[in-house]
Parts: sequence; C-alpha cells; structure tokens
Amino acid sequence: MENKPIYITTPIYYVNDVPHLGHAYTTIAADILSRYYKAQGKEVFFMTGTDEHGAKIAESARKQSMEPIDFVNNLAPKFEEAWKKLNIDFDAFFRTTDSKHEAAVQEFVLKLQESGYIEKRKYEGQYCVGCEKYITPDELTEEGLCPDHNKEPICQTEENYFFLLSKLSEKLQKAIESNEFIIGPDSRRNEVLGKIKQGLEDVSISRQAVEWGIPYPTDPDQTIYVWIDALLNYVTAEKVFDEKIWPADIHLMAKDILWFHAVIWPAILMALDLPLPKKVFAHGFFTFNGKKMSKSIGNVIDPIEMSKKYGADAVRYALFREFPFGEDGDISEEKIALRYNTELASGIGNLVSRVCAMTEKYLHGKVPNVDRDPESHPLRTEGWKKTYAEYDNAISNLKFDEALMAINKFIGMANKYIDDSEPWRLHKEGKENELQWVLYGLLDSIHQISFMIYPFMPETSKRIRESLDIQNDLILFENSYVNIGSGKNVKKPENLFPRIDKFVA
Ligand code: MSP
Repeated sequence: MENKPIYITTPIYYVNDVPHLGHAYTTIAADILSRYYKAQGKEVFFMTGTDEHGAKIAESARKQSMEPIDFVNNLAPKFEEAWKKLNIDFDAFFRTTDSKHEAAVQEFVLKLQESGYIEKRKYEGQYCVGCEKYITPDELTEEGLCPDHNKEPICQTEENYFFLLSKLSEKLQKAIESNEFIIGPDSRRNEVLGKIKQGLEDVSISRQAVEWGIPYPTDPDQTIYVWIDALLNYVTAEKVFDEKIWPADIHLMAKDILWFHAVIWPAILMALDLPLPKKVFAHGFFTFNGKKMSKSIGNVIDPIEMSKKYGADAVRYALFREFPFGEDGDISEEKIALRYNTELASGIGNLVSRVCAMTEKYLHGKVPNVDRDPESHPLRTEGWKKTYAEYDNAISNLKFDEALMAINKFIGMANKYIDDSEPWRLHKEGKENELQWVLYGLLDSIHQISFMIYPFMPETSKRIRESLDIQNDLILFENSYVNIGSGKNVKKPENLFPRIDKFVA
C-alpha cells in the first residue's frame, strides 16, 4: 500500500490572460480522473494552478501599466473561479509566486549546481517571447516567423547556466523503454524516443534579460528560466501544501508541452536524484469551428460563457464525448448543441424524467418492494454490470469518450426496456407485481447511471440522486451496488436538460 495519495496534475497555466476553453479541457480531464478515483474510495491530490513569472507575463503587465505582481494577483483568481464554475473540484491551487515555492526552487537549483549537471556558457540564439524559448531556424516559417505566434523572434546573446541534458539521454531512454517512466499515448512516446535517440542538446536554465523571475541563487544578474521554475512546481508543492505527494501518478497536458514534461522534467529529476513521475500523458489540441483558438483571430472561447449557455455539465460532456482524448479534434457550438439535444436531452434527461414520472403516477412516488431477487433483474445482469466493466476499462485507459459511449448504450437499453415492457399497459391491466419489477429495475438503473456519470457530470449526478431521495453527497462506487431502498420517495426532477431549439453562434 502506498502511503501517499494518487497525485494528478494539470499544467500550471500562464496568467497572461483569462482562462480559455483549451485550459479548461485539461483541467476537466484531471477532474474526471480525480473524481473517478475518489469515488473508488482512493485518496487523491489533484493540483492545478498558475505559472506567473517570465518575460511574457512581464510584457502583458507592462502593456496594462501594471506591476507584474499586481497583474498576476488580479488574474490568478480568475482561473480558480473559472474552474469552480465548471464544477472542477481541485484539491490544491498552485501559484509560482508563492514564497515557499520560490525558496524551494532556489534550493533545487543549488542542488543541481552541486550535481555537476550545470555549466555556465555563452549562448546566442533566436528567442520567441511568446513561446518563452529559443527557437531553432528550422522551426521558423518561410518568412522567418514563429509559427505559433506569427512574430519575428529576437536575437539574444547571453551568458547562461546550462543544464547538461545531453549527459542524461541514455538514462532517460532506458527509463522510457523499460516503462519505469510511461509516456502516453504510444504514438507520442515513440516520437519522443525517436528524438532522444537523435541526441539531446543541453538547455539553458537561466535568463539574464528577464527580471520577472526567481533570482538565480548563485548569480544575482540572472533569473531562473520560467520553464524550470514552472516544472519544479510539481515537487515544491510538497513544501507549499505540506503533504507527501511525490512522485506524481499522472501529469496531464496537451502535446504542445510534452517535450518539457517527457524529457526535460525527468532529466532534471534524475540529476536531483528524485523519483520520476509514473506517467505523463499528452492529449490533443482542439480547434474551434476548424480554427486554432487565438487572441489574434479573436476566437478564444470563454469556458464560463459557454457553461452559462449550456450548463457546466453539458460542456464537460460535449468536450469529452466529441473526440478521443489523446487525439486532435474540433469543437463548435453546433456540435455541443447537437450532443446536448440528442444525447443529454433525449437520452439521460428523458430516461430519468420518464422513470420518475411513472413512479409518481403508478407507485405513489415510492421505490417498490419487489417480490424477486433484484440481482436477477435483466437491467442488472445484461445492463449496468456489463456497462461498468466497459466503463472502468475505458477510464483507466483515459478513453473518456468510450466511457461516455458505454453509459449512453446503457441509457438506450433502459429507454428501450420501457418501450418493450410498457408500464402503462401493466398498470391498466392491474399487473402490479410486474409493474413494480419493471420500475424497480429502472429506478435501480438511473441510480447506477447517477454514479457512472458522476466524474463527468457531478451536478446532474447529484440531481438524479436527489430525485431518488438520496441526500448523501459522498459518492462511492461500492455503495452503488447497495439496492436503492424501497419506500424511498421518488420525485421527478426539474428538466435535467431542457432542449435547445436554437443556439446563438
Ligand atoms: N505555463 C506553461 C505550463 C507549465 S507546466 C509546468 C504553459 N501554459 S499555457 O497556459 O500555455 O497552457 C498550455 C496548456 O493549455 C496545454 O498544454 C493544454 O493543457 C492547454 N491548452 C491550451 N490550448 C489548448 C487547445 N486548443 N487544445 C487543448 N489544450 C489546450 O504552457
């Protein structure tokens, strides 16, 4: 048994603007995993936060005539608020301007110096402020611009401290090949391995020209490179939150920053003689209406606006139902609205409403006491027991779309069971025992569904349980197997997902 919680992280996001739907995507994914493990009774430490140093942030602050610290103090809470509005229940919110982090980063850098993996060198290169990194000529567009920021990089000459990454390439390769350190998905793992085999270059870990950063411990003219400061958050969190959490069980992020997490980060940990994270997983990038979300195009989607329109749970659902986690995809309001109507309103919403309404109408709103063994109900034997197997397998492999499809298949089965068993006919013909059996199975099914959707749609899950008279907020999968109590009062909930006839693009 491990004596530490399952440690799940998202990247810490740059606070040079308000959060957008891309940031929300990774954070919701981490929340789904966290809720899933917590519902299994496991202890979890789910951390997200903000990355607050560096030239990019200093520049944004300057543009608004603000001091960087005031600028970040103003923006960081917007991330916390956004996550709360999206029903994201993180355990810790990390900020790199925390003084405990700053002190710990300096200590780690000192240790790195002592490890023999640091050297001072002169460096000249093309630097993109947007990326906060040196960019090689072959990465530039034909016009000589950074492809991500459409900006010309600046020529920078500095004397910097270098981390001798090249010395660790073999050790790193072995750790990846032996799966001591897992990179997912497989295609990305192979890409990373391929690049490591071509040889790794040493990386600069300090900046002379950047003032807004943590001072380099042995050289007051330099600050620690923001990426080193940022990556170390995952371990300095132990000091900031005073918890034993390292090593991380999973670092989640998009593919844009996989290299930092899959190569630079483990190499730093090796040099520091610290354990490696168990797994890093890079999901895809998504476009909105076929276009990359960017400030300059003006199509950056505000996740809060989106959740005001459709509800946080529906946004969470649509994002993870639309395309496989790990692959690139496209999202649009039409797609969200379509999923909403066809799968949420007509699927789960309709099922819960039908079952509760019939219980009110035919059984005086009470969960019936059946005359047969509930274990033998076809909606159990052929239904949710099988669904759980698919569901668990999908979530454990981060196949969130497949988990949702498994739930939907079961919802379809339950809706069909109503049509086939015709409770209204059983009622008319006075077949009380049969009617009770049918509705019991259906109530049991929506009870199970409330558990299965919990990691994805926690608010909807709660509303379903409330309509079954279950007030306990603590979701534990093992309790889902307990029969829902007969005699409990069932009440049709207010429409869970009212249909959207139109949406405003
Ligand atoms: N501050 C660094 C991370 C340091 S972690 C030690 C950073 N921040 S960021 O604000 O640019 O966030 C990048 C992350 O935002 C991506 O890796 C991903 O998690 C998320 N996404 C941003 N845009 C996205 C999409 N369009 N699609 C999917 N994820 C996106 O990099």
